[in-house]
Amino acid sequence: MCGIVGYTGYREAYPVVIKGLKRLEYRGYDSAGVALLNGGLKVYKKQGRVAELEEFIVGKDLHSHIGIGHTRWATHGEPSDRNAHPHTSAKGKLAMIHNGIIENYAQIKKELLNKGYLFTSDTDTEVLLNFIEDIKVNNECNLEEAVRIALKRISGAYCILLIDESDPETIIAARKGSPLVIGVGKGEHFLGSDASPMLEYTKEVVYVNDYELAIVRPDELILKNLGNEKITPFVTKLDMELAAIEKGGYDHFMLKEIFEQPSSIHDCLRGRLDASAGTITMSGIEQNIEAFKSASRIIIVACGTSWHAGLVAEYIIEELCRIPVEVEYASEFRYRNPVVNKGDIIIAISQSGETADTLVAIERAKEQGAIIFGIVNAVGSSIARISNGGAYTHAGPEIGVASTKAFTGQLAVLTMMALKIAKKKSSITDERYTQLLFELEAVPEKVDALLKNAGKIKAIAEKYKDATDALFLGRGYNFPIALEGALKLKEISYIHAEGYPAAEMKHGPIALVTDTLPVVFVATKDSYHEKIVSNIQEIKARKGLVIAIITEGDEVIAALANDVFFVPPADEMIAPMLSCVPLQLLSYYMGITRGVDVDKPRNLAKSVTVE
Ligand code: M6R
Repeated sequence: MCGIVGYTGYREAYPVVIKGLKRLEYRGYDSAGVALLNGGLKVYKKQGRVAELEEFIVGKDLHSHIGIGHTRWATHGEPSDRNAHPHTSAKGKLAMIHNGIIENYAQIKKELLNKGYLFTSDTDTEVLLNFIEDIKVNNECNLEEAVRIALKRISGAYCILLIDESDPETIIAARKGSPLVIGVGKGEHFLGSDASPMLEYTKEVVYVNDYELAIVRPDELILKNLGNEKITPFVTKLDMELAAIEKGGYDHFMLKEIFEQPSSIHDCLRGRLDASAGTITMSGIEQNIEAFKSASRIIIVACGTSWHAGLVAEYIIEELCRIPVEVEYASEFRYRNPVVNKGDIIIAISQSGETADTLVAIERAKEQGAIIFGIVNAVGSSIARISNGGAYTHAGPEIGVASTKAFTGQLAVLTMMALKIAKKKSSITDERYTQLLFELEAVPEKVDALLKNAGKIKAIAEKYKDATDALFLGRGYNFPIALEGALKLKEISYIHAEGYPAAEMKHGPIALVTDTLPVVFVATKDSYHEKIVSNIQEIKARKGLVIAIITEGDEVIAALANDVFFVPPADEMIAPMLSCVPLQLLSYYMGITRGVDVDKPRNLAKSVTVE
């Protein structure tokens, strides 16, 4: 959601900025723009893709050693050229880009209108920019000071980058609630919403914290708080290679990421799980083990796919650790004045680590004395940094909007956590513990095996590509996988889909069943098997079209279903890591056959940094 890039240094800025914007396309956007400084400000912006901006820019004067660029995901004002960023201040001296929402912009706009300001866009960003310029002119101060004064007046979330005609080497940046990374080079600095725009130039980065302001020049990076006190920048070394953010021969990032799962799950388990030795090493859990052992409850907060991982974890943790678990949508939890007791453990699950709702939910819970445990994929992200402890999923950068490998990484981490806590609590038998460790260790190989049959799912997708609706049903550990399958199909193919616990079908959704409705059953062999066979019969009796994800050798369901996909046998607790993969493939191939831009489906953002 909104991508931000900046450069100041000895290179030509435009190629760095435009390449950076392409790297951030995955975040989701509807317009793009750049601002350069060469004598005066040059701002080029366009509704649509970065490629359209590039076409529009051909032949323009692009020479500059400083530049800022933006991909906008519309909040205030429709997607259009005039609402695209960068915005230029009323006096034409400043240009600014912004990710976030200024909540009190209307009040500030009113004040500026009374002073005679005119606005060329509908955005909250232009309001903040003119507010900053107004302060700069009236207080006769520099841009840094004006930004500091302005930020103390505004509420909401922001990451802003500004350039000033009168100071042609400096970028002023600040953040609260929206991410900002600064890459440190020799005689140059890079700025980005994440590290991907700077990866080929430097591995040394500084993650800027909330309420910090950065003064960035080619040879200098000064960090300050809003009280004008200097802060020593903490330089981190990136552990990420360029290949990780490129397609590597696949048509789409989504497909690449689905196929990466044998190795991403392996990377997640590596160094932690040793089945032969009977050990799980997770320092984040070890440091907080007493809190987990004595926890009277665990609350999981997350959004979207990460929320589905939380639901699977609820089943696993309750079963293995006998600790009550509540799974909450972060967006509801943060606003409904929930009861949070000192010592409650909140597990925040997030791929990006920047989801605004999840971030604010845990900030509030932390203030109330809860212990925050983050399960995050993006290293150094905001949720990872504000958590008291945590575990990375180590899935590597996930670029496709649809979460795939991050989800299986979340399931792997959550299962290891549950096993570790259960072992410490002695709420699991030694036999079951050992069995599950070996089961977990075998997952990468099993995912690899099932991916070899991806062509089968492709054929199923082609058969059902004209469906207008679909139902996804599952029971027990596979119920959240049914929800996840429906979410994937919606976002990637635009087919309306609903997920339900299979038994709930009789309480309403069965009214939808006709001889044209595909009903996807996630029905691997588990303790619910007989029950779900009955549910399949109920759909068949109404002529519904059954697509079943089942365990190899399951002839009972194979004989009932219209189409089947087999996954290798696995313990019911481990099976979700396998059964979700064919559903990811189904949505991918459905999307492709229906002509959807699967990596960047309409209206969606990879990192949802506004509430
Ligand atoms: O980065 P997060 O895991 O916090 O993101 C949460 C959701 O926005 C995300 O899972 C979303 O639902 C994906 N598009 C699902 O594929």
